[in-house]
Amino acid sequence: MDATEMPLPDDGTRSGGDAPAGGRRPRVMVLFGGRSGEHAISCATAGGVLRAIDRTRYDVVAVGITRTGQWVLADDDPERWAIRDGHLPEVEDTATRVLLPQGTGEHDVQVVRDGRLDAPLGAVDVVFPLLHGPFGEDGTLQGLLELADLRYVGSGVLASAVGMDKHMMKLVLAGSGLTVGPFRVLPGGRPADDALLASWVEELGLPLFVKPARAGSSLGISRVDDAADLAAAVAAAREHDPKVIVEAGLAGREIECGVLGGRGGAAPRASLPGEIVVTDARHSFYDFEAKYLDEAGVTLSCPADLDPDVVARVQDAAVRAFEAVGCEGLARVDVFVTPDGEVVVNEINTMPGFTPYSMYPRMWQVTGLEYADLVDELVGLALERPTGLR
Ligand SMILES: Nc1ncnc2c1ncn2[C@@H]1O[C@H](COP(=O)(O)OP(=O)(O)O)[C@@H](O)[C@H]1O
Ligand SMILES: [Mg+2]
Repeated sequence: MDATEMPLPDDGTRSGGDAPAGGRRPRVMVLFGGRSGEHAISCATAGGVLRAIDRTRYDVVAVGITRTGQWVLADDDPERWAIRDGHLPEVEDTATRVLLPQGTGEHDVQVVRDGRLDAPLGAVDVVFPLLHGPFGEDGTLQGLLELADLRYVGSGVLASAVGMDKHMMKLVLAGSGLTVGPFRVLPGGRPADDALLASWVEELGLPLFVKPARAGSSLGISRVDDAADLAAAVAAAREHDPKVIVEAGLAGREIECGVLGGRGGAAPRASLPGEIVVTDARHSFYDFEAKYLDEAGVTLSCPADLDPDVVARVQDAAVRAFEAVGCEGLARVDVFVTPDGEVVVNEINTMPGFTPYSMYPRMWQVTGLEYADLVDELVGLALERPTGLR
């Protein structure tokens, strides 16, 4: 079946999964913040989910992770977490500590306040990790949740780790027959010597895109048009990650496609694609400011104005990328459609931007799934999947 024809579930199957025993509502732990450079973006996403999640169907517990990694009970008022007037929200230490259950079959989350165990928070049925970047989107958090035997939304350990590491991701995608652009990798700890960098300019040409291998939101990424700037760009990337990837610049339209896991073992579903058009020449690419602070300088065109055959090829590549990496739940697959119509995969994001204004929810909205229903669908997917090896 063509990805566009994959049915969305009807209302009767959109949520539920394994409802907890005793007729109580499933309790969802909305988890956000975290140690990565994308802390504030994660908070903004949490604001969107906290506003949209249907509290008549789910009990919601908001848990923030501070920049230094403490798990704290957080305000569940969506307003608190918005990015407003350039102000970036941040999880503060509320002097509480949220402790995950230990051992299979235990689901009670505990809270320590002032050094003492508080009344238990009760069972958590599903964790909704809204974290971007390292220590959130990269498999580390997923590993912790696996150890705690908790259900959670989104990809597991390996897919999260592969999706986070732009080097590994490209190897897996290319190994599955998808087209990726040419690149070179500077491993952590390896000096960026001039001769090596010069050889890469020779082999890949200009412009180059220099990136931390494991970051996101365009943090630490530079476009290099002059070989003399390459060493500085590598140093800038290394402020985020010792491992750096240097890519040949690709010309083409920047197209994104949402993928949602299938219910009950069905194939993954692809949304209509969207397009990023950076309209303000002050941004030489889709950089951090263009993404979050200068939204006037960017148009998110959704759905993208593409020929139906290009739509079908983008959706096909997106679903194949999702399956190649072994994703679960959700992912956004970003591609370039080159002037001669080739679909080249740039990256897969296992926890894409997820505010109501972000591309992933918007692509699903134009495909027929509203934001609140998308949240519901993701929780339903997580509830229906077993813990442990799958
Ligand atoms: N190889 C490339 N050629 C052209 N533009 C690129 C390339 N790689 C990245 N870009 C630009 O940089 C942006 C951020 O790069 P990306 O790999 O998506 O990193 P992130 O994970 O931070 O989103 C892209 O959205 C695109 O505008
Ligand atoms: Mg990107």
